[in-house]
Amino acid sequence: CGIVGIIGKRPVAPLLVDALKRLEYRGYDSAGVATLEEGRLDRRRAEGKLANLEAKLNEEPLAGHIGIGHTRWATHGVPNETNAHPHFSAKIAIVHNGIIENFAELRDELKGAGYAFASQTDTEVVAHLVSSLVAAGRTPTEAAHEAIGRLRGAFAIAMLFEDEDDLLIAARNGPPLAIGHGEGEMYIGSDAIALSPFTDSITYLEDGDWAVIRSSGAEIFDGNGQTVARQAQKSTTGAVVVDRGNYRHFMQKEIIEQPEVVAHTLAYYLDLANGAPKQIDSAIDFASISRLSISACGTAYYAGLIGKYWFERYARLPVDIDIASEFRYREMPLDKGDAALFISQSGETADTLASLRYCKGEGLTIGAVVNVRESTIAREADTIFPILAGPEIGVASTKAFTCQLASLASLTVHAAKARATLSDEAIAEMVHDLMELPRLMTEALKVEQEIVGLSRDLAHASDVLYLGRDTAFPLAMEGALKLKEISYIHAEGYAAGELKHGPIALIDEDLPVIVIAPFDAVYEKTVSNMQEVAARGGKIILITDVRGAAASSVDTLKTIVMPDVPNFIAPIIYALPIQLLAYHTAVFMGTDVDQPRNLAKSVTVE
Ligand code: G6P
Repeated sequence: CGIVGIIGKRPVAPLLVDALKRLEYRGYDSAGVATLEEGRLDRRRAEGKLANLEAKLNEEPLAGHIGIGHTRWATHGVPNETNAHPHFSAKIAIVHNGIIENFAELRDELKGAGYAFASQTDTEVVAHLVSSLVAAGRTPTEAAHEAIGRLRGAFAIAMLFEDEDDLLIAARNGPPLAIGHGEGEMYIGSDAIALSPFTDSITYLEDGDWAVIRSSGAEIFDGNGQTVARQAQKSTTGAVVVDRGNYRHFMQKEIIEQPEVVAHTLAYYLDLANGAPKQIDSAIDFASISRLSISACGTAYYAGLIGKYWFERYARLPVDIDIASEFRYREMPLDKGDAALFISQSGETADTLASLRYCKGEGLTIGAVVNVRESTIAREADTIFPILAGPEIGVASTKAFTCQLASLASLTVHAAKARATLSDEAIAEMVHDLMELPRLMTEALKVEQEIVGLSRDLAHASDVLYLGRDTAFPLAMEGALKLKEISYIHAEGYAAGELKHGPIALIDEDLPVIVIAPFDAVYEKTVSNMQEVAARGGKIILITDVRGAAASSVDTLKTIVMPDVPNFIAPIIYALPIQLLAYHTAVFMGTDVDQPRNLAKSVTVE
């Protein structure tokens, strides 16, 4: 799931591992590095964490001033050492992210030509393909170019050639790849974070680009083999971003810093001094569109669902929302005059990007709600709506979620104003509510100690049900997602009103039911659903506010009391206890909180 490469003036193996550590947050299950020493390729690979690879390198160090490294998130073939990258073929070493769709066809062809396959990966096919072309007399660059032209699918690739100690070849068709410019050194990496200790001068490859990199610089070609100029940008990603300070996990740090980062988000969209929406760069004219289409995956999708409630309620703007992997193939009718929003922390999620391209092709105006402003989704959109959460390292999204919500809430205010669906006073009140967020979030985080106690019990559950109505319904699904992602406890989020249509059959004294219920217009309805759970002996954990706690007559195992907050911003506040509950439960269970098994932070495959 991560690629790095260095042409250096010093031994590169430790630097490659260092860079891979910065990509750890993307999730992986094996890792490896290859270097070239005195014209000969050698590699070390290990299953599991980078510490295993480091241990191998300590026992058997790799010398060499040029090398490539990789962290792998398994697609074809189990995560073991044999399938770990770099893959070799005769005189070539290669690392790859993504999926080669025509690998079976190429493998058969290469097998026919006598190539033996050591792994089950699709990557090895590329190594042998390049090798076969070199064997047929092509130069390394010719062979790489020709091979890349034969690949179908999504890939980012880096290659190293025996006897070529000043040559790295990189190619991109889908997953991101950045080239870093140093002083007499050159680098490649999946993102600027990987390269941040080496350089802040970064060139992003565009889709279809491939590059010939030497210590003196990089030459970039487009899909047709034409040289193209791609500007180097100054990356704003400081080298400090992977520091988790005094916190035990990045996830904990990212939960705690939410009041601060949400304040940054709000400052982008709102004129805090005058309590009004601020002039922002937007190609979307909210006044003229008749429908907004939202697509996203995972946590970003749940943020979008909450956005739907807001846009429809306050701006009277109809919203269609889809999981991006469904949307991209759904062939829904779209109207050229309308707009589409794509929500993505990384800005690289393959399904979300494909949905964006589909909508672009249909002539819609495209907005990207992203954290990474240099990402592909950001670059291909007509307008970027930044969430300004700062680098999110924990695989399970927390601060990006609340910052996505803060962006969507702010955009709702913009839309309500543009569509004149609310009075100026009502709009000023919404802005005022949003401005209270940092303070109220700080207040809400004070429930942490109470949640620690609750998490100790939750760690024994095998299933957990989350219920909510209105904007607390998507939050219930996000709560369940968070818990299952990092504690591996099965959890489901349901609309409280839907309880009686199925999940009620699961209720017994062993099933914790977490009810998210701010005191709002549907509070009484949710209380009725809690009665139904209580009547069947279910264990209720109620998360409500002071007014809600006073108004509830139901026996709960525990009631977590949040500050009273305006209904509009409640989902952003209630996200916090939900995140803390998942976090502390996972800590009690001793799981790998920041890098939960099987998950990746940035999913650049379908
Ligand atoms: C992965 C991550 C999730 C994230 C989802 C969408 O599954 O583990 O945390 O919500 O991808 O990612 P995106 O970068 O598009 O928001």
